[in-house]
Amino acid sequence: MTRLPKYDVVSIEDLSLDEIERIFELADQFAAALEQRKPLDLASGLIMATLFYEPSTRTRLSFESAMHRLGGAVISSAEMSASSAVKGESLADTVRVVSAYADLIVVRHPYDGAARVAADYAPCPVFNAGDGSRQHPTQTLCDLYVLQKKKGRLKDLTVAICGDLKFGRTVHSLIYALARFGANIVAAPNQGMGVPDHVLARLAAERGYKFSTVTIDELKSQAGGLDAMYLTPSAPHQMALFTSEMPLDASPPAGQAPASLDAFYVTRFQHERRAAGERERPDYLRFDAGALKTSRAQEAVVMHPLPRTDELAYELDSDPRAVYFEQAAAGVPVRMALIGWLLESAGKTRVRPNPEQPLLVFKADNAPRCANPNCITRHEGRYLRSRFRLAPAVSRAVLMLRCEFCERELKVEYVGHARSRRYYRFDESLYGYVRQWIDEQSLVIFDDVKQAEESGYGPYRRGPQREIMNADEIARASEELAAQMIADLPDLTAVSLVGVVSRGAVLAARLRHLIQRQTKVAPPCAAVEVHRSHDGLYPLDGSESFDVEGRTVVLVDDVINSGWTVQRAMATLWKRGRPAAVKLAVLIDRGHRALPIRPSYVGKNIPTTRGERVLVRLAEHDAAAGQKPADRVVIYSMVESLKQPEDAP
Ligand code: CP
Repeated sequence: MTRLPKYDVVSIEDLSLDEIERIFELADQFAAALEQRKPLDLASGLIMATLFYEPSTRTRLSFESAMHRLGGAVISSAEMSASSAVKGESLADTVRVVSAYADLIVVRHPYDGAARVAADYAPCPVFNAGDGSRQHPTQTLCDLYVLQKKKGRLKDLTVAICGDLKFGRTVHSLIYALARFGANIVAAPNQGMGVPDHVLARLAAERGYKFSTVTIDELKSQAGGLDAMYLTPSAPHQMALFTSEMPLDASPPAGQAPASLDAFYVTRFQHERRAAGERERPDYLRFDAGALKTSRAQEAVVMHPLPRTDELAYELDSDPRAVYFEQAAAGVPVRMALIGWLLESAGKTRVRPNPEQPLLVFKADNAPRCANPNCITRHEGRYLRSRFRLAPAVSRAVLMLRCEFCERELKVEYVGHARSRRYYRFDESLYGYVRQWIDEQSLVIFDDVKQAEESGYGPYRRGPQREIMNADEIARASEELAAQMIADLPDLTAVSLVGVVSRGAVLAARLRHLIQRQTKVAPPCAAVEVHRSHDGLYPLDGSESFDVEGRTVVLVDDVINSGWTVQRAMATLWKRGRPAAVKLAVLIDRGHRALPIRPSYVGKNIPTTRGERVLVRLAEHDAAAGQKPADRVVIYSMVESLKQPEDAP
């Protein structure tokens, strides 16, 4: 009997796009077999356990039907209220016990992140059948499967997602998936029920993906004009085309507006996710035949994960564009395909689709707590500790942690250093230190000063700042850099400049101006954002696009410290293409680093100790206009507070 591989599907991101395509191929095969009433025995001898801590019709019965159709068996607790959960048994214990009875567990749970806990504790694979308002990835597979069948593709489709986008877990998984497939999303939430900030932040930081929001009234009354209001000049989905999961040579559409809407995805009011006093149904969206009358909606299919309440009129059921019962029916072949995918994956090596940031390790007494009251860690605290990873943030001035379980993000205000027992209000100047404290497991997070002081931490006082370069000296060093580049680079027309956000980008723009002034050649110039895990390269010179393929790229930054920034910037460049050569230009070389990286061009060498911090201020200004910026470079010591200067970056 085959042992199923431990491939959990907790989030839709747990599946690569190739795997999703493969699951759809299998679903086609199983749908055909079902149609022909062919008996199957692929899963013969296997047992699936369904643990549903919340009600379900479609997900549970279609999973159970799928396993039966494949010749496997199903065990289930009729209701988890009839299980030992009511005696206080933890989710972790339950899945450990049930793993001894079954080869695969399907779990639905009211708390965000519960499926992650089940997957962590169960030695067998776990499929998430919906956890709190977080995700419902197998519903998303059904949705995508039907959408692709109806439209022939997913890329470039335009999908309006309507209703309760705040608590609708099917919506969250679907948005992440559509973004990865390069579809356009128009959000049409009910008032106060918009897509949560953490979902928006994640899409923006990891995929450079943004979408438009319209009101329900606009959607209903002006569906015909949506193409005019939808795409911004930056064409929201274009960045998604350049994630590692899309082919690099896929050329983004040239900012065109969609000719029509391809789908409406309607969702119900999620009363069960709200506090007792907020469960009264507000004036909620009602989608009826009238909404399909506009010209742009003529080709649009109407989707709904079901169950529906009053938001979807029964009069739509006879319209051939209504596909919600097909979504529900697809639950069987798609979930058969998921089990079939597990079976065919047994014994094969799998590349994890999304390598994560490393898990942050905190000492027991200083671990931060997830702020989401519905996070599983807030309810199963007897054995569960909050776990966090660093979340990609839009700038170094912000430190964000992401809960490993519910995926909510936590903005860090105060950090502490466990060895020196000092606390700091987080700001940009601490970013490099915090990265090092993470590596050495000495980072502490505090909600506020009170918590820090009650934990025995004292305030940090850094040494006095000393100016080491003024604006004139910075201007001279920049000219020196430009002169070195002009002398060294034989063909400036083949050179592109890439500045590391933020000060490296300012410096790159200045170098471009200086090079142009002396040679009349203005190299293309872009900024690279190194704190996003995906594409973060955008032109600074007003161009529509920025090529690195076959170019000599000069990476520009203000100071070289450890060298990690350069490494991250290179990784981003590589996703865009293969430069002929990459060189590094820095305003200041401090003379020591963690990685063996040597800059080709240096404005000034300023040897420092590891306990000193060099802070560069480069004001953005119009160099061509000859304004004199308020630039300066200061140095200050952190030795006093860190006590162990050699530990500081
Ligand atoms: N779509 C969906 O999850 O339905 P059930 O709640 O009936 O499983």
